Amino acid sequence: MSVIKGLKGRDFLSVNDFTVEEIYEFFNVARRLKEEQKRGEKHEILKGKTLGMIFEKSSTRTRVSFEVAMWQLGGLGLFLNTNDLQIGRGEPIKDTARVLSRYLDGIMIRTFSHIEVEELAEYASIPVINGLTDLLHPGQVMADIFTVMEHKGDVKGLKLCYIGDGNNVVNSLLHICAKVGMDISVATPPEFGPDCHIVREAREAAELSGSKIEIVENPLQAAEGADVLYTDVWASMGKEEEQMMRRQIFKGYSIDKHTLGVAKKDAIILHCLPAKRGEEITDEAMECSQSVVFDEAENRLHMHKAILALTMVD
Ligand code: CP
Ligand code: NVA
Repeated sequence: MSVIKGLKGRDFLSVNDFTVEEIYEFFNVARRLKEEQKRGEKHEILKGKTLGMIFEKSSTRTRVSFEVAMWQLGGLGLFLNTNDLQIGRGEPIKDTARVLSRYLDGIMIRTFSHIEVEELAEYASIPVINGLTDLLHPGQVMADIFTVMEHKGDVKGLKLCYIGDGNNVVNSLLHICAKVGMDISVATPPEFGPDCHIVREAREAAELSGSKIEIVENPLQAAEGADVLYTDVWASMGKEEEQMMRRQIFKGYSIDKHTLGVAKKDAIILHCLPAKRGEEITDEAMECSQSVVFDEAENRLHMHKAILALTMVD
């Protein structure tokens, strides 16, 4: 499957764990699998393989795309809700990791604590894939940049503007933009910026790739001349009780006619979804011809296939 060595058996916890060459290998395999699927070609790359999919938070895209990816590649995806697992009653992560490694060929997990996912990966002898933590959403941003490539070609030197909460999605966007040489300008209210450690990691990677990283407060400053406009909900999963307060603080941190007005005329709009129309994005922006949010959602499937194929087989 892979033209480069060393991806089989690897965990997929953070984009920052991969070299630029490895990241492009995921893009190349996703592209190939997508083209082959569109031509009606079928694969059995994961025949006989089983992926356990642990969910402690809700999901539409991640759950369905991973499950369908496994099935379309000839394997089996098992949906495991933490409420139904012993982990939900306090069984240690390190025990769960070792038990599941005796049954499965891979684990995908969506949960709150990133440290718990790292612990799961440390004790599991099979690949662990991060399907979102409070800190990172790496599979999402791989699909996002893949989508940008489809619409814009070479991404080096393009400017991505992210407006909104400094959450898991923008943390992973910082990682990936810095790796592939895209400029990224992030506008958040003060106190709601991205994780400082991640910003530092991204700045280090940017020194090699030449990407420019800017963290500002003014959404219009961030959107000026952007090729890609990106936003996400103001209150992520787990922050629901802050929803009202955040509605006040984040007012104006939206993709709307003002941000579209200062971005490049042919800028594309991305949103990881689910979206709250009227908050971080207007209905007009979601539905306009520049919005590629549903291509982006589709590409989760193709990217997840690439991640599964490259980490689970040779
Ligand atoms: N974007 C994303 O991860 O969507 P779900 O929460 O529906 O999986
Ligand atoms: N930042 C959002 C992303 C959802 C896909 C959340 O964590 O809820």
